[in-house]
Amino acid sequence: MKNIVLTGFMGTGKSEVSRELSRILGWKSIDIDAEIEKSQKMAITEIFRQSGEPKFRDIETETIKKFSGNKNVIISTGGGAVLRQENMDVLREKGVIVCLAARPETILQRTSKNNDRPLLQVDEPLKKIKELLEFRKPYYEKADIMIDTEGKTPLEVAEEIIEKVKNEG
Ligand code: S3P
Repeated sequence: MKNIVLTGFMGTGKSEVSRELSRILGWKSIDIDAEIEKSQKMAITEIFRQSGEPKFRDIETETIKKFSGNKNVIISTGGGAVLRQENMDVLREKGVIVCLAARPETILQRTSKNNDRPLLQVDEPLKKIKELLEFRKPYYEKADIMIDTEGKTPLEVAEEIIEKVKNEG
């Protein structure tokens, strides 16, 4: 089976689903955001604050390239990783790209629990979520498999992914 690459907007449950997949398949789960924080010794918010989004995107690409060659892993990407075609190209070499989707209201509910998403630290986060979703829609839709997570537990989503990935070969 190919690697499983999780994409999707912030708050669609990539990290939780990745943990379930890791448990079921016995595969290592690699979280690109966590790897960035480890290598930079800094929180994502702090990288955005000190260096700005373009620099963060460069580090993100570097990190994706570093881990995409592994085998039998689940790679969980940050919500904006889909914006660079080179990220997706390198991830697709050994992986099936799965995109998790949720409604803007659900995303708001999940992301407002803490303030670790620099892009959503604005006066009207719901409006921002809708704008970003609209802009990113064509990028997310390039995934091989699209999963609606609405009303499903991370375990249910993980099981659905495994079924669909098996059919992809
Ligand atoms: C981002 C999503 C975040 C993180 C950064 C930027 C985005 O990851 O990479 O804050 O542009 O959507 P999560 O999707 O894991 O929250």
